[in-house]
Amino acid sequence: MANYEKKLIGKILLPLFVTLVFSWLTIYWSLLIDWTQIKPDSMADTLGRAISGISLYVALAITSRLVVHQALDFWARQRVKMDAPKLLKDLSSLILWLVAAVLIAAKVFAVEISGLLTASSVVIAVIGFALRTTIADIFSGISMAMEQPLKVGDWIQITGYDAGQVVETNWRATKLVTPDQLTIVVPNSQLASRPFINYSTPEPFFRIQFPILLGYDVTAHQAERILLSAVSQVTESMAVPRKPDVLIGEFKEHGVVWNVRCWMPNYPSLPPVRYEIQRRLLRNLHYSGCSVPNKALELISSEDTATKRSRKAKEFSFFRQIDIFEELTLEELQILSEKCVTRLFLKGKPVVRQGEDGDSLFVVKEGKLSVIITTPEGRNLPVGHLIPGSFFGEMSLLTGSPRSASVMPDVDSVVLEVTKETFRQLLEKRMELVELLSKTLATRQVANQLLMQADEPPPEPEKLSGQIFKSILSFFRFSNN
Ligand code: CMP
Repeated sequence: MANYEKKLIGKILLPLFVTLVFSWLTIYWSLLIDWTQIKPDSMADTLGRAISGISLYVALAITSRLVVHQALDFWARQRVKMDAPKLLKDLSSLILWLVAAVLIAAKVFAVEISGLLTASSVVIAVIGFALRTTIADIFSGISMAMEQPLKVGDWIQITGYDAGQVVETNWRATKLVTPDQLTIVVPNSQLASRPFINYSTPEPFFRIQFPILLGYDVTAHQAERILLSAVSQVTESMAVPRKPDVLIGEFKEHGVVWNVRCWMPNYPSLPPVRYEIQRRLLRNLHYSGCSVPNKALELISSEDTATKRSRKAKEFSFFRQIDIFEELTLEELQILSEKCVTRLFLKGKPVVRQGEDGDSLFVVKEGKLSVIITTPEGRNLPVGHLIPGSFFGEMSLLTGSPRSASVMPDVDSVVLEVTKETFRQLLEKRMELVELLSKTLATRQVANQLLMQADEPPPEPEKLSGQIFKSILSFFRFSNN
């Protein structure tokens, strides 16, 4: 038998049938009996009253129960799209049956009503006391269903519990599943009485903040560059339509507490995105010359110990960390750091423009920059990002061609500029550096061609790198032997 048919018979037809039989019995007995013939308090009188009382009682209670249950279900479906709680329906039935019993006792059996009322209130009080926690859960469930502070699918964190995703809400409890795949069942009365954070509303994204301690010698501009560029390197966080920012939290004995405030796209991505931002923060601090933390989440700039070091000495240690300069000798690194120029570029002001002549190479020290190619149709196509440690400008420097792209700072950025003349001194003795740069140049050119969907297929990076190598040698008038 289908579910619907079972429901129809069990919930409506059967009670209706019973109601009709009992109503009929009541009427039949009332009509059949000639009450004037019956002596008061005789056996027949008591039996007659009992039968008509019982049938009237059953008819009344079943009919009203049917109406009340349907009304409760209707109300609940309208509000929260589910049936009314069973306990609420059972309680309402109990009250109805008791009211019907009291009325019939008073009317049919002429019983003193005040005594009955006291007895039934005591019964209700006893039942209420026994079920008090369940009743509290259900009434909390009802109030939550009406207010809707959470829904299935939301990520919430109740004080004293791990955060979890709501997988089920019913009238008695709310079920959460944590990221560790543990199920937590929280009774609704507890949920209603404890504060909780709903990470999924009003928007699925939310903001977190990292406190970071930096030395007093780190300027506000430098701190902004280091911290904001770390966040802007993480695409998941930047995809949120809100901007990250930094604020000064506190001035402490050893430095300034900076608060980096960044956005998480949703709760499940919190750990990986937070970790990625933390990694980028460490990386940026490393390249900018600030040391690694000595306390969890407290990063102390080594600048205070490095104040005695000259600016050039810091640039020396910066160049030492850059992949392409790994093989250089200390003297060569010395030349590089002596001759380079430190430049600050403000957000939105291009470092190089596509099509312009140029003959210097830049290495990013702080910040983040975008590489943008303007296509022949006039479309600005972002082709790459440059973060601390990466270099650009090698294409024009090494081949003499105009700048192949514009490089635009996404946040205020510091770059070190190395001129063609300085580079010539290094390249002359370092064919492996020419080789390394040819490879990077070829990879970038192939990637750009693919992104621009040029008609001709891109050349093999290996082959292209060989050709570039040769043209660099001839451009600098070197011989490869
Ligand atoms: P150049 O052509 O001298 O000036 C623009 C620079 O952008 C270019 O050298 C490269 O260093 C850099 N560049 C071009 N394409 C990319 C890319 N896909 N990824 C990273 N950097 C690039």
